[in-house]
Amino acid sequence: MAIRPLVLLPDPVLKQPSAPVEKVTDEIRTLAADMLDTMYDAPGIGLAAIQIGVPKRVVTIDLAKQDEEKRPIVFINPEVTWASEENSVYEEGCLSIPEYYEEVERPASVRVRYMGLDGATHELQADGLMATCIQHEIDHLNGVLFIDHLSRLKRERCIKKFAKQAKERERGA
Ligand code: NI
Repeated sequence: MAIRPLVLLPDPVLKQPSAPVEKVTDEIRTLAADMLDTMYDAPGIGLAAIQIGVPKRVVTIDLAKQDEEKRPIVFINPEVTWASEENSVYEEGCLSIPEYYEEVERPASVRVRYMGLDGATHELQADGLMATCIQHEIDHLNGVLFIDHLSRLKRERCIKKFAKQAKERERGA
Protein backbone atom coordinates (compact mmCIF):
# COMPACT_ATOMS: atom_id res chain seq x y z
CA MET A 1 0.00 0.00 0.00
CA ALA A 2 1.18 3.48 -0.69
CA ILE A 3 0.71 7.13 0.03
CA ARG A 4 0.19 8.88 -3.30
CA PRO A 5 0.79 12.57 -4.07
CA LEU A 6 -2.27 14.81 -3.82
CA VAL A 7 -3.43 16.87 -6.79
CA LEU A 8 -3.72 20.49 -5.68
CA LEU A 9 -5.74 23.48 -6.86
CA PRO A 10 -5.53 24.91 -9.55
CA ASP A 11 -4.54 21.67 -11.36
CA PRO A 12 -7.15 21.22 -14.14
CA VAL A 13 -7.26 17.47 -13.37
CA LEU A 14 -9.60 18.38 -10.49
CA LYS A 15 -12.19 19.67 -12.99
CA GLN A 16 -12.26 16.35 -14.84
CA PRO A 17 -15.37 14.17 -14.36
CA SER A 18 -14.61 10.62 -13.19
CA ALA A 19 -15.79 7.45 -14.92
CA PRO A 20 -17.93 4.75 -13.28
CA VAL A 21 -16.24 1.57 -12.05
CA GLU A 22 -17.69 -1.53 -13.68
CA LYS A 23 -16.24 -4.21 -11.45
CA VAL A 24 -14.26 -4.46 -8.25
CA THR A 25 -10.86 -5.68 -9.45
CA ASP A 26 -7.47 -5.90 -7.74
CA GLU A 27 -6.69 -2.54 -9.31
CA ILE A 28 -9.71 -0.97 -7.57
CA ARG A 29 -8.87 -2.67 -4.26
CA THR A 30 -5.32 -1.28 -4.46
CA LEU A 31 -6.63 2.14 -5.42
CA ALA A 32 -8.99 2.18 -2.39
CA ALA A 33 -6.21 1.02 -0.04
CA ASP A 34 -3.84 3.70 -1.36
CA MET A 35 -6.58 6.31 -1.02
CA LEU A 36 -7.11 5.37 2.63
CA ASP A 37 -3.35 5.49 3.29
CA THR A 38 -3.13 8.90 1.61
CA MET A 39 -6.20 10.20 3.47
CA TYR A 40 -4.99 9.04 6.91
CA ASP A 41 -1.51 10.42 6.24
CA ALA A 42 -2.79 13.90 5.27
CA PRO A 43 -4.80 13.64 7.62
CA GLY A 44 -8.27 14.06 6.17
CA ILE A 45 -11.76 12.60 6.57
CA GLY A 46 -12.62 12.14 2.89
CA LEU A 47 -10.88 11.63 -0.43
CA ALA A 48 -11.96 11.14 -4.05
CA ALA A 49 -9.77 9.15 -6.46
CA ILE A 50 -9.35 12.17 -8.75
CA GLN A 51 -7.47 13.87 -5.90
CA ILE A 52 -4.64 11.40 -6.47
CA GLY A 53 -5.07 11.79 -10.23
CA VAL A 54 -7.26 8.73 -10.91
CA PRO A 55 -10.50 9.64 -12.75
CA LYS A 56 -12.59 6.78 -11.32
CA ARG A 57 -15.73 7.07 -9.20
CA VAL A 58 -14.21 5.93 -5.92
CA VAL A 59 -14.47 7.79 -2.60
CA THR A 60 -13.06 6.98 0.84
CA ILE A 61 -14.41 8.43 4.07
CA ASP A 62 -13.55 7.90 7.74
CA LEU A 63 -15.10 10.23 10.29
CA ALA A 64 -13.50 8.53 13.31
CA LYS A 65 -11.57 10.91 15.54
CA GLN A 66 -7.80 10.52 16.00
CA ASP A 67 -8.17 8.57 19.28
CA GLU A 68 -11.00 6.33 17.99
CA GLU A 69 -10.76 3.08 16.11
CA LYS A 70 -10.75 3.56 12.34
CA ARG A 71 -14.08 3.29 10.51
CA PRO A 72 -13.19 3.41 6.81
CA ILE A 73 -15.94 3.34 4.19
CA VAL A 74 -15.18 2.87 0.49
CA PHE A 75 -17.89 4.18 -1.84
CA ILE A 76 -17.77 3.03 -5.46
CA ASN A 77 -20.05 4.88 -7.93
CA PRO A 78 -21.85 6.72 -5.09
CA GLU A 79 -25.09 8.45 -6.05
CA VAL A 80 -27.45 10.64 -4.06
CA THR A 81 -30.92 9.08 -4.37
CA TRP A 82 -32.67 11.49 -1.99
CA ALA A 83 -31.82 14.82 -0.39
CA SER A 84 -33.67 16.64 2.40
CA GLU A 85 -35.23 20.01 1.75
CA GLU A 86 -33.67 21.21 4.95
CA ASN A 87 -30.11 22.50 4.54
CA SER A 88 -27.23 22.77 6.95
CA VAL A 89 -24.05 24.79 6.94
CA TYR A 90 -20.60 23.32 7.63
CA GLU A 91 -17.17 24.82 7.43
CA GLU A 92 -15.54 22.72 4.71
CA GLY A 93 -11.96 22.11 3.74
CA CYS A 94 -10.35 19.94 1.09
CA LEU A 95 -7.03 18.09 0.86
CA SER A 96 -6.61 19.59 -2.63
CA ILE A 97 -7.04 23.12 -1.20
CA PRO A 98 -4.92 22.87 1.95
CA GLU A 99 -5.56 25.16 4.90
CA TYR A 100 -8.48 26.94 3.25
CA TYR A 101 -11.86 26.72 4.98
CA GLU A 102 -15.22 28.26 4.15
CA GLU A 103 -18.84 27.63 5.10
CA VAL A 104 -20.94 25.75 2.53
CA GLU A 105 -24.67 25.11 2.63
CA ARG A 106 -25.92 21.71 1.47
CA PRO A 107 -28.89 19.39 2.14
CA ALA A 108 -28.75 18.35 5.80
CA SER A 109 -29.56 14.67 5.08
CA VAL A 110 -29.06 12.49 2.02
CA ARG A 111 -29.53 8.90 1.02
CA VAL A 112 -26.63 7.48 -0.99
CA ARG A 113 -26.50 4.32 -3.07
CA TYR A 114 -23.07 2.87 -3.81
CA MET A 115 -21.16 -0.30 -4.54
CA GLY A 116 -18.91 -1.59 -1.78
CA LEU A 117 -15.58 -3.38 -2.16
CA ASP A 118 -17.67 -6.56 -1.81
CA GLY A 119 -19.25 -5.73 -5.18
CA ALA A 120 -22.73 -5.45 -3.61
CA THR A 121 -25.03 -2.43 -3.67
CA HIS A 122 -25.36 -0.61 -0.36
CA GLU A 123 -27.46 2.29 0.85
CA LEU A 124 -26.50 4.81 3.46
CA GLN A 125 -28.71 7.35 5.20
CA ALA A 126 -26.38 10.19 6.06
CA ASP A 127 -26.90 13.16 8.37
CA GLY A 128 -24.62 15.76 9.92
CA LEU A 129 -20.96 15.66 8.97
CA MET A 130 -21.37 12.43 6.94
CA ALA A 131 -24.04 14.09 4.75
CA THR A 132 -21.76 17.04 4.04
CA CYS A 133 -18.70 14.88 3.50
CA ILE A 134 -20.28 12.45 1.02
CA GLN A 135 -21.81 15.33 -0.98
CA HIS A 136 -18.41 17.08 -1.07
CA GLU A 137 -16.75 13.89 -2.34
CA ILE A 138 -19.45 13.12 -4.94
CA ASP A 139 -18.92 16.69 -6.20
CA HIS A 140 -15.24 15.79 -6.80
CA LEU A 141 -16.35 12.90 -9.03
CA ASN A 142 -18.20 15.46 -11.16
CA GLY A 143 -15.26 17.87 -11.30
CA VAL A 144 -16.84 20.20 -8.74
CA LEU A 145 -14.92 21.67 -5.78
CA PHE A 146 -16.38 23.13 -2.61
CA ILE A 147 -15.14 26.56 -3.66
CA ASP A 148 -17.54 26.28 -6.63
CA HIS A 149 -20.32 26.73 -4.03
CA LEU A 150 -18.87 30.06 -2.84
CA SER A 151 -19.37 33.53 -4.29
CA ARG A 152 -17.40 34.27 -7.45
CA LEU A 153 -15.29 36.80 -5.61
CA LYS A 154 -14.26 34.35 -2.88
CA ARG A 155 -13.62 31.57 -5.39
CA GLU A 156 -11.45 33.72 -7.64
CA ARG A 157 -9.47 35.00 -4.68
CA CYS A 158 -8.87 31.42 -3.53
CA ILE A 159 -7.81 30.19 -6.97
CA LYS A 160 -5.44 33.14 -7.36
CA LYS A 161 -3.82 32.38 -4.02
CA PHE A 162 -3.27 28.72 -4.90
CA ALA A 163 -2.08 29.53 -8.43
CA LYS A 164 0.56 31.76 -6.88
CA GLN A 165 1.61 29.01 -4.47
CA ALA A 166 1.86 26.52 -7.36
CA LYS A 167 4.11 28.90 -9.26
CA GLU A 168 6.32 29.35 -6.22
CA ARG A 169 6.57 25.56 -5.84
CA GLU A 170 7.57 25.25 -9.49
CA ARG A 171 10.24 27.87 -9.08
CA GLY A 172 11.55 26.16 -5.97
CA ALA A 173 11.73 22.76 -7.69
NI1 NI B 1 -12.27 17.76 -1.25
